[in-house]
Amino acid sequence: MSALLEQRRPDHSLPQAFYTDQDVFDFDMKAIFERAWTMVGFEIEFPQSGAYIALEIGSAAVIIVRGKDGIIRGFHNSCRHRGARICQEAAGRTPRFVCPYHQWNYDLTGKLLRAAKMADDFIPENHGLVPIHVETVAGCVYASVAKTPLDFSPFRASVERALRPYNLQDAKIAHIGYLEERGNWKLVMENSRECYHCAAGHPEFQKAYPIAIGERGGALEHVDETETTRRLRLLGLDVPSEMNDWWQVARVPLNEGKVTFSVDGGALVSKRLIEQDGRDLGALRWAIEPNNFCHVTVDSAFMFSANPVHPTLTKVTAKWLVHKDAVEGVDYQVADVIRLWDETNMQDRDFIENNQLGVNSAGYIPGPYSPSAEPYVMSFVDWYCKMAREFIANGLTPSS
Ligand code: FES
Ligand code: FE
Repeated sequence: MSALLEQRRPDHSLPQAFYTDQDVFDFDMKAIFERAWTMVGFEIEFPQSGAYIALEIGSAAVIIVRGKDGIIRGFHNSCRHRGARICQEAAGRTPRFVCPYHQWNYDLTGKLLRAAKMADDFIPENHGLVPIHVETVAGCVYASVAKTPLDFSPFRASVERALRPYNLQDAKIAHIGYLEERGNWKLVMENSRECYHCAAGHPEFQKAYPIAIGERGGALEHVDETETTRRLRLLGLDVPSEMNDWWQVARVPLNEGKVTFSVDGGALVSKRLIEQDGRDLGALRWAIEPNNFCHVTVDSAFMFSANPVHPTLTKVTAKWLVHKDAVEGVDYQVADVIRLWDETNMQDRDFIENNQLGVNSAGYIPGPYSPSAEPYVMSFVDWYCKMAREFIANGLTPSS
């Protein structure tokens, strides 16, 4: 990895092995995914005690669950007997965790309740589920399997302030979709961090979204004041755009007269997340490295996350939220709510799969990013390389 990182030319796409090699992929799981934060989803996905989501963070299988005390916690999804996976479904509800292999029972705080036929000196207290870090903020749920995770507090402060008016605790899931993309996770994320391809690649998306955004020196806060941002400020929704190397929170104006992310920019849900007289409140975008971004508008929210499966396969999870009182078929149609992002994701999948094929070729040479159109790709790759170098230099392990 050190030699590969030496070969990297700054502000260029990465050498081939970063996108194709199994050893690099394994390194990424340890050096990046198992040290960073991952967005799990939304608090509303844990409506009662025992509601859980099981997912992978790098090579770690984890469970996120709401306890009887209302607190959302996380654990490694690996039994303390002989390691079997405890939750086999992606989501569900259970009063306690029962390992399917030899029936060890754990409560929702991870405490071992029952393990039959063990030796007299067996100490149940020493065999609880291994906890991981979980943070909830403004209706969103994040997890990290690092022993000492990246400092969450600046991101928390920023996203809490920005998301508060949208009340995502009062939302509901309208739809969850999955998409397999035959591309390396970094190609998926590079694609998601630029709109250089949007003019040619996303004809519907650009009706609502000002695709030149982010092309003016690389920071969304440099976007000129528009009628939209003026209205946001008047409504008290104008939050400063903030970012550091692993997260971004930014207000994004939509095109003049557009309300939300729909194929024509028109409203999708009659019961809105924010009830205001205005019609063009823009969007709020919040994102964390390595694998996530979200947008919320007046009437719906969208979450994107990319989960690496193997060096040239990534599974994208997409979630859409609407107000909890919006009635399907009356206030909104699921097909309409998901159409724009769903089509955009499929268009992006085609770009990514074609990108992977070209990168696989013997003729691939890393090329230069556009400083004006791809600043967020550059910051993503810089952050990746920084995390990789830190991991190597400090002899770090995911648990350190
Ligand atoms: Fe879980 Fe045996 S591996 S009870
Ligand atoms: Fe795209």
